[in-house]
Amino acid sequence: MSGEGPGSRICLCLTGGSLEQDAALLRRERPHVDLAELRADFLEPSELAHLARFPALAGLPVILTLRRTADGGRWRAGEGERRRLLRGALGGAGTTPGGYAFVDLEEDLHDAGVEGAARERGCRVIRSFHDFHGVPANLAARVRRLACACGGRGELPKAALWVRGSRDQRRLAEACRELQGMEKILTGMGEYGSFSRILAGRLGSWLTYCSPGGQGVSTAAPGQLDPRTLVELYRFRGIGPQTAVYGVVGNPIAHSRSPEIHNRAYAALGLDAVYVPFLADDPAAFLKAAEALGVRGLSVTVPFKERVLRLARSAEEEVEATGAANTLLAVAGIWRAANTDVAGFLAPLEREAPAVLQPGTGAAVLGAGGAARAVVHALARRGLRVLVLNRTPARARALARRFGCAWGGLDEPGLARLSGHSALIVQTTTVGMDGAGDPLPGYRFRGEECVYDLVYAPALTPLLARARAAGCRTIGGWSMLRAQAEAQFRLFTGREYPADLQL
Ligand code: ATR
Repeated sequence: MSGEGPGSRICLCLTGGSLEQDAALLRRERPHVDLAELRADFLEPSELAHLARFPALAGLPVILTLRRTADGGRWRAGEGERRRLLRGALGGAGTTPGGYAFVDLEEDLHDAGVEGAARERGCRVIRSFHDFHGVPANLAARVRRLACACGGRGELPKAALWVRGSRDQRRLAEACRELQGMEKILTGMGEYGSFSRILAGRLGSWLTYCSPGGQGVSTAAPGQLDPRTLVELYRFRGIGPQTAVYGVVGNPIAHSRSPEIHNRAYAALGLDAVYVPFLADDPAAFLKAAEALGVRGLSVTVPFKERVLRLARSAEEEVEATGAANTLLAVAGIWRAANTDVAGFLAPLEREAPAVLQPGTGAAVLGAGGAARAVVHALARRGLRVLVLNRTPARARALARRFGCAWGGLDEPGLARLSGHSALIVQTTTVGMDGAGDPLPGYRFRGEECVYDLVYAPALTPLLARARAAGCRTIGGWSMLRAQAEAQFRLFTGREYPADLQL
């Protein structure tokens, strides 16, 4: 098995309706997986008579699982029938040599027939418990008890827990730390638990479960990734106890491009590091989880950029001035806050339109939220004359006063002031994110403006398209996203971001 060694293994959960469909899924994903779990509870009833055949079809080690509904599975028929099927599949007549390598039996299932059939065929028992109500406070003790009970029989203990939020993340991470070195499977279900699937090698879980990629395939448990993403994006095969862990924390987080930006650079430089998306709901509890996981650095995104300041120290002017941090570094047991949004915003301008950064240049900032604050600070500090325009004028006023700027609404009187501040127009609102909407519909570009839209998807917002058509110089949000990430990369690793990396 390619997963042998200090790391973990990738197990593909097969949830097709037929054995043939499962074998086809396995063939497709095979380059990226070490073993498979046949979820027999997803099969059509007519397939169940042929369970014993599957290991030969699979051609790599297979776990047999017939999960009851109470444990999150789909098996609704009786317990007697379930045990009969397990016995038959493991050791009944017609079983091929080289049968199932593992069988997953729940903690409360003790059946001499099933266990005996497994033993005779050299099939190892995975002894599991599931908790769909959350991560129990005594998780480490619970797993230790399970390990004691089953260790003498050579069984592999497994706990699968529903991770409801950051408090559960903390419990799971702390239990993993306590259980380091013990052979076990530990997996956090749901999107809050997704980090544990990526970090299985680091957390000491014997395997991680994943789902086939693509449409029309049921996921065995929520939060599972596909094996290709695990191997190619997260470089799962190389993750072990020594791997440096970084990540991005936010809510939502699923569509963040940051894992791609950072992991691709670790790969290019050959660094033993991984960058993980963390969905969180409580920054204080999450940071405790991150400490237990030994996370060295975090990108911070919406909605936590302001809230993390209470939990961190900083001496940076950018953090003080903007009241926000997009970066946390674990330094000697303390979280140090930094803000690379300011430098990340300025870098593309310095590269592509340095003339507009001359002191005294008139600039307009659309929006008055957190992103606008970093932009206004950056421009005001460079001596530009800044006008803040926002849908809610009171917010524009509050931001403008803080930095000594002019302000207005996104309305006719506001637009009238724009002509004196239009050498640079920076768009910081969420308008345009869906590919529709223009925050300045009443403004006609003259072609002399430099227009910078912080929205990065789509790459060409309606505002930028209009500005470009009028002959303006335009800068898209991707440039800023990448520049702030490159600055973070330097803080995290002490290395320069590989300049020629195409993303
Ligand atoms: P961020 O931290 O990303 O800047 P935010 O603090 O929620 O996010 O700010 C969002 C900005 O987008 C605000 O300036 C908001 O305007 P209001 O202050 O009036 O809410 C602006 N915004 C959001 N939707 C908008 C819309 N449909 N039209 C104009 N501005 C909008």
